[in-house]
Amino acid sequence: MHLKKREQFRSRLGVILAIASSAVGLGNVWRFPYIAGSNGGALFIVLYILCLLFIGLPILMTELSIGRGAHKSLGHAMDDLQPAGSKWHYFKYFIVLGAILICGYYPVIIGWVIYYFVGLFDGFLLDPSKTSKEVFSDFVTNKPADALLCTYVAVFFCAACSWLGIKKGIERTTKPMMILLLLFLVLLCGYAISLPNAEKGLEKFFVPELTDLSLSKIGSILHAALGQVFFTLGCGVGIIMAYASYMGKKKTIVSESLIVCGIDTFVAILAGVMIFAACYSQGIGVDAGVSLVFQSMVEIFKHMPMGQFFGVSFFFLLFIAAITSIISVFESVVSFGIDCFNISRKKSVLYVSIINVVITVPAVYSFSTFSNVSFFGQDIITFEDFVSSNIFMVLGSLLFAVFCYSRYGWGINNYMAEINEGHGVKLPNFFRNYLRYVIPIFILIVFVTGIMS
Ligand code: PFF
Repeated sequence: MHLKKREQFRSRLGVILAIASSAVGLGNVWRFPYIAGSNGGALFIVLYILCLLFIGLPILMTELSIGRGAHKSLGHAMDDLQPAGSKWHYFKYFIVLGAILICGYYPVIIGWVIYYFVGLFDGFLLDPSKTSKEVFSDFVTNKPADALLCTYVAVFFCAACSWLGIKKGIERTTKPMMILLLLFLVLLCGYAISLPNAEKGLEKFFVPELTDLSLSKIGSILHAALGQVFFTLGCGVGIIMAYASYMGKKKTIVSESLIVCGIDTFVAILAGVMIFAACYSQGIGVDAGVSLVFQSMVEIFKHMPMGQFFGVSFFFLLFIAAITSIISVFESVVSFGIDCFNISRKKSVLYVSIINVVITVPAVYSFSTFSNVSFFGQDIITFEDFVSSNIFMVLGSLLFAVFCYSRYGWGINNYMAEINEGHGVKLPNFFRNYLRYVIPIFILIVFVTGIMS
């Protein structure tokens, strides 16, 4: 029986910033600029915003509506909303596995960010006798103990926030951190665009190249845009549901989702402006792929005016963005434990921390001790990222969509009533068929193309 009194956020702003802080993460500051860079810049941005509005937003709303409608997190929400006798709630065990998998590698990348923050602050990463590529590969292959220590700092941070609870821990951390992130981002962006030649980067980022456009090129940009929408919203693994379970009903879910998507896109675009301007000012390409942040950017910090200061601030910003995202994943697993097994918050935090300490080890050692371990040609960390983003998040989103829209689940009538309850923007009824038939098909397309890629 679930009889404990549920904790609450102090304010509406607190919940919205917590949900936005979960969406804003490495995906905005690191992934969005490099995906935009390798997919033609401005055209990618236009397609991305369309995908976010027409596909991302409805997907985000399904999870928000289940959490708010049931006032419960993943551990109990579907049990409460499903038609009597149905078995939807069994899927929660699959969904929570996705969140646990993310806890296995995301803190490791945050560990790298912490290491780079310290290394740039101290200056040892700016050694002119080595290239940034050499420094990075030396770190991941020869210094796994340092990487493990930094990873555990990230895990400890999450555990401390969750331990203190919703108001004192999560809300008190995510709210000021999000505000700090926005402030830092605006300042760094301003500095980057004041650099010589920065306007070339801005032109590349904002002016679409419409020559040479083929259908297959548009298709591949669309695929990249959809993948980014899924990654940045982080739907399908129950985190949004956990935070939504604390939401009030004063404003419609449509309004709240628009605000979250707006903040998320604002951060991604500012990060893109900052990175494009900085890269072009130093004559370095923005299409370096995953190595953009840990190699290209560090090379830039070495040569730009006030590079060390810019570098330290940049990694601080990245840390805030990433840690607030993983706090949300950690919290969703913790609240799953509380709701599902009826244990205290502190016990749940303890168990989830122990799980985290163990499951991050393979990812930390994936380029050293376990460098010969590979799954389908991918190293451990890449494989964990692939499985969580392309399988768990996508299938989880599909499941929530079918649950909300189908009469065998919660049902479209209940769903529409929930998302439109409160003041603000409402979704007109004529969207029903779009939601029921188009959204699941799009999610399936993302699933199949993601697996094939
Ligand atoms: N939304 C996060 C980002 O943009 O970095 C990524 C993410 C975090 C996805 C947590 C999923 C998740 F559960």
